[in-house]
This record gives sequence, C-alpha cells and structure tokens, in this order.
Amino acid sequence: MGLGRLRDGLAPTPPMGWNSWNRFQTSIDERLIRETAEAMVETGMRDAGYRYVVIDDGWEGPERDGDGDLLSDRDRFGSGIADLARRIHDLDLRFGIYTDAGTKTCAGYVGSLGYEFRDARRFASWGVDYVKIDWCNTSGLGTRAVYGKWSQAFRSAGRPMVLSLCEWGRTRPWQWGGRVGHLWRTCWDIQDTWDSLTTVLDRQRGLSAYAGPDHWNDPDMLEVGNGGMSTAEYRAHFSLWCLLAAPLMAGNDIRTMPDDVKGILTAPEVIAVDQDPLGLQGDLVRAEDGLEVWARELADGSRAVVLFDRSAEPREIPVRWADIGWEAKDRVQVRDLWERADRGAFAEGFSATVPSHDVVMLRLRRAEP
Ligand code: GLA
Repeated sequence: MGLGRLRDGLAPTPPMGWNSWNRFQTSIDERLIRETAEAMVETGMRDAGYRYVVIDDGWEGPERDGDGDLLSDRDRFGSGIADLARRIHDLDLRFGIYTDAGTKTCAGYVGSLGYEFRDARRFASWGVDYVKIDWCNTSGLGTRAVYGKWSQAFRSAGRPMVLSLCEWGRTRPWQWGGRVGHLWRTCWDIQDTWDSLTTVLDRQRGLSAYAGPDHWNDPDMLEVGNGGMSTAEYRAHFSLWCLLAAPLMAGNDIRTMPDDVKGILTAPEVIAVDQDPLGLQGDLVRAEDGLEVWARELADGSRAVVLFDRSAEPREIPVRWADIGWEAKDRVQVRDLWERADRGAFAEGFSATVPSHDVVMLRLRRAEP
C-alpha cells in the first residue's frame, strides 16, 4: 500500500458518470449516447456531478482496419467515435469508452491483446477521457503484467485518461491496482436484484483501507432506476455506494427516468458524502440480525452513517457514538441526509426506525467541547 500509487489528480474523488451496460448491454448506437448526454444536462445530472459518458461493450466494428487500428461499428456508430466525443465535450461532459485486455471482449467483439499501445493512441486521438478495460478471453495472462502494460501505453499516448480495471476482484486488485489505474472492480457483475445488491455489498467489507484519491474500489455500476428493485432498495443501494466512496456510474435510461429515480441519483447531501475530499472509504461498524451500521469519516471531522435494515420488517437501528470512535458523553448534531433535516443534538447515540430494505442516512458532527 502507499508505494508508487498514481497521484496524477485525474480522479481526486470517485469518478461520476453514466455507462451504457447495465440498462442497454450491446443494444447501443450513437443516437442513444448523444441523447443520453443531452439528457444528462437537461435533467441536472451533469450539474449534480456526473461528468463521464461511457460507452461499454458493443461499439466496436467486426474487425480492425488495414493498419490494425480499432474501428467503430459502421451502422451503429457511423459518424465515428471522434465526432461523438466532440459532441459530448461540447456539452461540458467527458467521454469514456470500453475495451478488453484479451483477444475478444466479453460480448465477443475485437479485443486489444497485443494492441495496447496502438489502442491507447487511438483513444487519445479520439479525445477519450476514460477507458474501462475488461478481462474476458485472457487465458494464461497475468493481470498485473497486462494492466501494467496498459498503464505505460496510456502514459505514452499523451492524453490524460482515467483507467478503470475490470478483472472482477479475481487477483485482489486493491493490493496493486492503484499503481496502474484509478479504479478497479472488486467483484462480479451486479444485477438489478436485491440478492445481487446484498451479495456485492458483503464483498466490500474490509476493503476500505485500499481506497483514496486517484485509486478507488469499484463495487460496480449503479442499477438505480432499472426496474428490478423498489425505490427503498435503490435508495439503500445509492446510500451504501456513497458510504463506500464508490465510483457513481448511473446505469439507467437517463432520457426517461421518473422523478423518484432522479431524486435518488441527484441527492446533493448524499453525493457530497461520496465526493468528500478526504477520500476515506467507509466500512461496516456493527451488524446484528440483519441490521447494519456503516460509517465513514469525512474531511471536516464529521461522520456519515448509514443505518441499513436488511430484514423484512421495519426495525429500530441505533448508532452509538462508541461505534464510530467517539465518546458516549460527546454531544453530537444529527442531520438526516435524505430528509435534509436537522434532528437535534444527542449524547450516547441516535436511533431511527428504518423501513424494510431501506436506509436512514445521517451526518454526525461533534459539538466543540
Ligand atoms: C463484463 C463486465 C461488465 C460489462 C460486460 C460487457 O461482464 O464486468 O461490466 O462491461 O463485460 O460485455
């Protein structure tokens, strides 16, 4: 840890944006990407902090050109990637793209193995700001060596690009990923279900020490608004990702999202926790009977706390000051971040009744002695 990590300032707080995969898989084209970028501006997503518009798998053409360069699919991305990047930049957004470290992408498109420097140059010439590099079809390859090569390729390409590693946590990337990239997946793909959400969440415990400015654990992209979970479950998903200092990549259809979804994705005081400049990831501090308390230290000395009810009933969940390293006698101001309401000052602790599969998210400030 600590040694040789990237400190290039490209991802001082966890990257925020949108990615095509969770909602659209490979059913994508330039019109969808353009309309999404426009919707990011119109809906206030951009102003809430979402900056990267990322095309995931499925943009590639069937083969490379005569020089060996990557090509976009002629029918679905006929205007070319450079044109798309320019339009996205004109909206004051940043542009991201996807490739795979192996011979083919996960969806079977052209992979980048052996073309790392060429593809990094190509991305730079297109105006790419962010690249996600997947790990399908890599048999016999080592993650550290291959992603290390990518890191060099990016450095020599002459354009700053955020590098997102996607080997699904197989080789403990939190131990070495910070030397080569800005974020790394910690687990298999998230699905739009409660089971998947809680499985992914459980994989994040104990990883908080590995994250910080320019190097983030990535528990995968958001499913908020994709229809498979309740509003309460999506609120829990979003709150916990913010507590974890996770990259916030919206994965829904921004063009048609209803107000409750937009309300979750753009909640300012919740996003402020994710984007806290100290960059300390939170962790589980207490669990009992399906009731969990997650906590995170913030730059101003306050604490963010998520009270999470995994049970099937509404339950009262307490946080005690001792759980978060404070003394019982401390007087602490409590603010509810979803309700945007002050709850008063308390000694010992605070408790709230949390609906099933929902959260109460708090910010706690210790009064001056
Ligand atoms: C893998 C990744 C996903 C997505 C798909 C694309 O499964 O983990 O996030 O990029 O590939 O095929």
